Amino acid sequence: MAIERTLSIIKPDAVAKNVIGQIVSRFEAAGLKVAAARMVQLSRLEAEQFYAVHKERPFFKDLVDFMISGPVFVQVLEGENAILKNRELMGATDPKKAAAGTIRADFADSIDANAVHGSDATETAAVEVAFFFPALDVYSR
Ligand code: PPS
Repeated sequence: MAIERTLSIIKPDAVAKNVIGQIVSRFEAAGLKVAAARMVQLSRLEAEQFYAVHKERPFFKDLVDFMISGPVFVQVLEGENAILKNRELMGATDPKKAAAGTIRADFADSIDANAVHGSDATETAAVEVAFFFPALDVYSR
C-alpha cells in the first residue's frame, strides 16, 4: 500500500467553531499522521491562486470570499492511501449529502461553508502541499 501525502485545510467556518482538535483527532484515529501544520490568513490573491482550477465556475468568487473570511488551519497528512482516506473522512462536498459520521456531516453548515478541503489526486496533492509548505518543513515520522 502506498504511503502518500495530502493537503488538508480546516476552513474558516470550522476554525471559528473551535473544532480544529476534533477534526485532527479524526485524522489521527484513522491512522493519518500530521506531517506539517500551521494557521494561515489567506490573501485574496493566494486564495485565487490556490483555487485557480475553479476560476470559471459560478461559485468561484463566493469560494474565495469565504476562504479569506478568517484564518484556516493547513496540514499535510501522511499515511497509507492518505488522499482517498482523507476524502472519505471528509464526506461529500455538500454536507446535506455527506454520509453520517463524516467531518462534513458533523461540522459543516452548507456547500459554501463545508469545514474542510482535501486534495483530490496525487498530482494535485503534490502541488497543494508545495503551495503551503517548503519540503524541509514536512516531517515523515
Ligand atoms: S470537489 O470537492 O473538488 O470534488 O468539489 P467541487 O464540487 O468540484 O467543488 C470544488 C470546490 O468548490 C467548493 N464549492 C463551492 N463553494 C461555494 N459555493 C458553492 N456553491 C460551491 N460548490 C462547490 C467546494 O467546497 C470545493 O472546495 P474545496 O476547498 O476544494 O473542498
